[in-house]
Amino acid sequence: MKIDERLRKNIRRLKGYSSARSENGKQNDQIIYLDANESPFENGLNRYPDPGQSAIRDLLSISLGVKAEKLFMGNGSDEILDLLFRIFCEPGKDNVLVFPPTYGMYEVLANVNDIKVKESPLNEDFSLNFEKTTTILDKNTKLIFLCSPNNPTGNSFSVQDVKRLKKRSDAFIVIDEAYIDFSSKDSLIKAFNNDPQIIVIQTFSKSKSAAGIRLGYAIADERIVNVLNKVKLPYNVSQLSQNAALNLLYGREKIVQNISEILRLKYILQEGLITLPNVIKIYPSDTNFLLVKFRNAELVYQHLLDSGIVVRDRSKELHCLNCLRITVGSLEQNNLLIKSLREYVREKDIVFG
Ligand SMILES: Cc1ncc(COP(=O)(O)O)c(C=O)c1O
Repeated sequence: MKIDERLRKNIRRLKGYSSARSENGKQNDQIIYLDANESPFENGLNRYPDPGQSAIRDLLSISLGVKAEKLFMGNGSDEILDLLFRIFCEPGKDNVLVFPPTYGMYEVLANVNDIKVKESPLNEDFSLNFEKTTTILDKNTKLIFLCSPNNPTGNSFSVQDVKRLKKRSDAFIVIDEAYIDFSSKDSLIKAFNNDPQIIVIQTFSKSKSAAGIRLGYAIADERIVNVLNKVKLPYNVSQLSQNAALNLLYGREKIVQNISEILRLKYILQEGLITLPNVIKIYPSDTNFLLVKFRNAELVYQHLLDSGIVVRDRSKELHCLNCLRITVGSLEQNNLLIKSLREYVREKDIVFG
């Protein structure tokens, strides 16, 4: 695949900013740095951070089993999604494909970048509708966003699903695996390791308990990584974030422990929700949240809000009528949620209860 021909015209011609640190390579205590107008007073933050985040990429490369050259780090995965629009899509001309209901930022970023969004709604069981997809794709479809496991539905898509999409289009398929570590299914990284059409995105925000550091990463063809590096702001990941990420990655056992704890808590939460008479359905979830259909989600949402608990009302999303998306919290938080829902049933759900 010729990546260059797929780039937005101005990006093909773009010469990226050459920062002081990228020209001089890794920092070294023996060298006197008077090149970047930094302060000489050492406090751990007086120097610009490594623009290539090489220490983090080296560690991730080992844990993911991919070459460090295939990793791109972003200020949250949202930055990476935005950059993909900026490098591959011609504003006012190109389009992208999404599968609603799904993560809302794909559409927001498309709008920001003046890119049309084409929708191929999921079937009612949240599977892909390939017939519909085929009729929608055209030669200007540059990106296909497949969120797996999907937010807000909680289900995952398979290697086979991606292969079927590939048969229908040569657009880049962006597989958003923000929730993959909570899934019993494998990441799709390995299945498409050397496939330049596939870009996988993961994040530190969910299973790594670090939404606050704003760090996401893409696993993509080296040539795409090079273009992303050219377009990103030179120091897009702060020193504080890089330090925090390294600490997290050195303490991998804690991440693994936290994931199994969330899965245990999810199970307990599910058991509590099942007992409620106004819960119609809990959808299977490969994530750290549950999509729950209530008899009247709007009233339940308001009741929870009144008791100081915020969940996400997804009722207006396709196939999600009366659905609330509930993040798995701590045992105490989940217990308070169940307590409040029981109260609601006792006090307000008299008509149905
Ligand atoms: C599917 C999905 N992708 C990406 C993100 C954003 O992740 P980040 O915090 O890395 O920007 C989210 C956040 O909720 C998400 O649900």
